[in-house]
Amino acid sequence: MNLCPTHALVLYCEVMRAVASAPGKVILFGEHAVVYGRPAIAVPVTQVRATAEAEPGEPGHGLVLVAADVGLTVPLAQAPADDPLATTARLTLDYLGVASAPDAVITVRSTIPIASGMGSGAAVSTAIARVLAALVGRSLTAGETSALVFEVEKLYHGTPSGIDNTVVAHERPVYFVKGEPPQPFPIARPFTLAIADTGIASPTKIVVGDVRRAWQANPAPYERLFDRIGAIAQAARQAMEVGDVAALGPLMDENHRLLQDLGVSSPELDRLAAAARAAGAWGAKPSGAGRGGNLIALIPPAQAALIGAALQEAGAKGVIVTQVG
Ligand code: MEV
Repeated sequence: MNLCPTHALVLYCEVMRAVASAPGKVILFGEHAVVYGRPAIAVPVTQVRATAEAEPGEPGHGLVLVAADVGLTVPLAQAPADDPLATTARLTLDYLGVASAPDAVITVRSTIPIASGMGSGAAVSTAIARVLAALVGRSLTAGETSALVFEVEKLYHGTPSGIDNTVVAHERPVYFVKGEPPQPFPIARPFTLAIADTGIASPTKIVVGDVRRAWQANPAPYERLFDRIGAIAQAARQAMEVGDVAALGPLMDENHRLLQDLGVSSPELDRLAAAARAAGAWGAKPSGAGRGGNLIALIPPAQAALIGAALQEAGAKGVIVTQVG
């Protein structure tokens, strides 16, 4: 009997062997305000991925999770309650109604920078949920995977909006409003982004928590900032739908200023943005939680090498160039 599911994102499967993966992501517009119900736009970044590979384990030993990048081996039965890989596996098995974990080893690897706003946690969880479902002869829809991963995100990221798990699990550009089904939308004309890593790890939970405390202490100005950021995300969606790429640069610059007002930019991010603009980028802004992590710049494709070099010169630890749409 072939137990393998026919899900497009399960790359390979035979009984007790399977591979699944999930991409990184960047938020184009609307981070932070999205936590407070305003819209945001995020896109997958397929150049970086998390992969989970399952193979047969020792009979009777149950499920073993291996985080290959950090050299960690976690037998599910002995994993601490707060281990994120084990939590993902437990939630997935519960959701699928599987009482006893299969005797298997799942090895996780990721090329997505950690704590950099590129959705590394969501991608790792997505890959594990998919490969585990495949192992037990089932498949999960993108919506089911996203909902499962959201449960994991809530345990580790405080009060996430759900945008990371949504874009990573659906692997397509989304216009996202918290609590509503994701709205995929057409991008009429492709555009090119440079994604520059500050190399500064910035856990989402801490930055989101700081913004929440500031908002609680003084809600009115923060509500105004969130409204303006939400309006930019709406305008950006319209521009993308009609292929008005020229409109996106100024919208990114304005979103950057609002993130500065929110207190989530940083000297390093501001320096990278200035360097990208000086080298010919049409607009730039931090992406994700901010303070560290990544800067994104909208660039003329022909100037990718020049702008990439300028970003490195200004301190970027790595630059990814990706096409959206
Ligand atoms: C993190 O990638 C984006 C934030 O808006 C947090 C969230 O939406 O959960 C900062």
